[in-house]
Amino acid sequence: MKIIMLGAPGAGKGTQAKKIAAKYEIPHISTGDIFRANIKEGTELGKKAKTYMDQGLLVPDELVVDLVVDRVNQEDCKNGYVLDGFPRTIPQAEALAELGQKMDYAIDVDVPDENIIHRMGGRRACVGCGATYHLEYAPTKVEGICDACGKELILRDDDKPETVKKRLNVYHEQTQPLIDYYTNAGILKTVDGTVDIDVVFQNIVEILGA
Ligand code: AP5
Ligand code: MG
Repeated sequence: MKIIMLGAPGAGKGTQAKKIAAKYEIPHISTGDIFRANIKEGTELGKKAKTYMDQGLLVPDELVVDLVVDRVNQEDCKNGYVLDGFPRTIPQAEALAELGQKMDYAIDVDVPDENIIHRMGGRRACVGCGATYHLEYAPTKVEGICDACGKELILRDDDKPETVKKRLNVYHEQTQPLIDYYTNAGILKTVDGTVDIDVVFQNIVEILGA
């Protein structure tokens, strides 16, 4: 099963993609996570990506597309994958279509802008493994410490309120057109992303099939 997660920054794409990947035993491919790992390792790609990410801007298509093409052509993606944060522009969607791999679903996790701003302030990410939590909605067992690997949690650089507003504008301008694109392709499904994390997931499972 080949799945695309769509939705505004903070809509819950990553949260749901992880659950989908675990249940259906397919790789979770998050371009944001790949860039953050590169930033942490200090690679050339990471250095380039960081200048855009810190401003709330999209990383240029040419830095993203080849990376994803390489990844989805790997052996573990043979039976499917869940793409989280890609495609994010029409040219990216076209590049994906050119691969000739048939996508089964594009799931739009729908959350209004007002909810997003509140959510992002409470998100915490692990400096070690990148796992994501929320102070209110998805707390860790011990405050400030990752449940998965025991490392420290931080507020992501791009989760500061001014940057979140910029990311939302960029989303509306460059990524929202993909909703029409995948509606026209006949694979768009929308779920309400404002309800409880487990309820969102149940609704996704209803779409994908148990
Ligand atoms: P990326 O990492 O993809 O960021 P994003 O799209 O802005 O999305 P987020 O990861 O911030 O949110 P999410 O939807 O995954 O929500 P989450 O599950 O964490 O990209 C970062 C940057 O990299 C971009 O700005 C861009 O610069 C660059 N980039 C990446 N891909 C690119 C591409 N293809 N092209 C160009 N540039 C690219 O949830 C958010 C919070 O809410 C969490 O705390 C979570 O616990 C909580 N939460 C989740 N669901 C619920 C719920 N139902 N109720 C209450 N709380 C919830
Ligand atoms: Mg994410």
